[in-house]
Amino acid sequence: MSSVDPKKLAQYLTVTDPSKAWVPERLIYLMTQATVIPSFSAAAIKLGRLTRDENATVDDLAAVIELDPGLASRCVQVASSAGYAARRIVSINQALMMLGMDKIRQIAFTVGVMDKFTHLKSKVNWDDFWLHSILVARLTDRVAAAFRPPCGSEYLAGLLHDSGKLVLEHYFPEDFDRIVLRAVERSCGHAKVEHEFIGLTHAQIGAAVCECLQAHVEVLRAVWFHHDPFDSSLDGQPDNSKFLAACVAVGDALANMAQVNIAGAKASDIPFDQLPEWAYLNQFQMSYGLDLDLEGELAKAQEDLSAFAS
Ligand SMILES: [Fe+2]
Ligand SMILES: [Fe+2]
Repeated sequence: MSSVDPKKLAQYLTVTDPSKAWVPERLIYLMTQATVIPSFSAAAIKLGRLTRDENATVDDLAAVIELDPGLASRCVQVASSAGYAARRIVSINQALMMLGMDKIRQIAFTVGVMDKFTHLKSKVNWDDFWLHSILVARLTDRVAAAFRPPCGSEYLAGLLHDSGKLVLEHYFPEDFDRIVLRAVERSCGHAKVEHEFIGLTHAQIGAAVCECLQAHVEVLRAVWFHHDPFDSSLDGQPDNSKFLAACVAVGDALANMAQVNIAGAKASDIPFDQLPEWAYLNQFQMSYGLDLDLEGELAKAQEDLSAFAS
């Protein structure tokens, strides 16, 4: 397994306060250990690329997932569970036929991602974290789909958007607790307090996580800027980064509105359709419409979580 280049991680983990320089140093040391965030399997990386290919067929998808027997068997297991087909499925091809390409892609991504983080499981609300992540993934996908056919990057960016929090909580538990407490006290988001306490944010750490996983660069940038999609470094990027980052921000605000989040994260007071990110997205033609049932999405995210956890 190729280890990640420390210089690449340093790009995301910048601090302006020299007294906090130990934080990125420690994070880079940890994250370059192959076991901390193992990269996606070759199959998962191919899957990420394939989903951007309009000509990809169901057979292509099956062939790629089957390259990774562990991933394939977990997908089959999840696809057979009560939340999905509720009958015995024995192959990826059969699962694809029963559930369709989009669903299998979501299952493969979620299984692939959650399995990478099980060793970071700590004392704090693991299920709440993944419920938030899965819900934001679904909502990011729904929001993006109002404007253009989603390609899989939307779901993956939503799923990974707060992954930096898992790293933070696992390796800096005391700082994490202090951050949560202070964010609650001030009734503000975590990112602001993180910046103050440790010099960088979970969004920056999330970008480093995406680098370790070898996620696509537009997924990485969307995670990096999910609290700041108007950052000037996203301007003029030839890919969908800014659009994606804005979709994640709207998905995140919707999930917070539904009060699905880990302890201490602040729910936005602003309705999603008054968010600047939503105004930005509406510069694009809304070709497909957005018919959003937040409670329904939450129920599906809960179903997904129990299927993936079993
Ligand atoms: Fe976040
Ligand atoms: Fe979030």
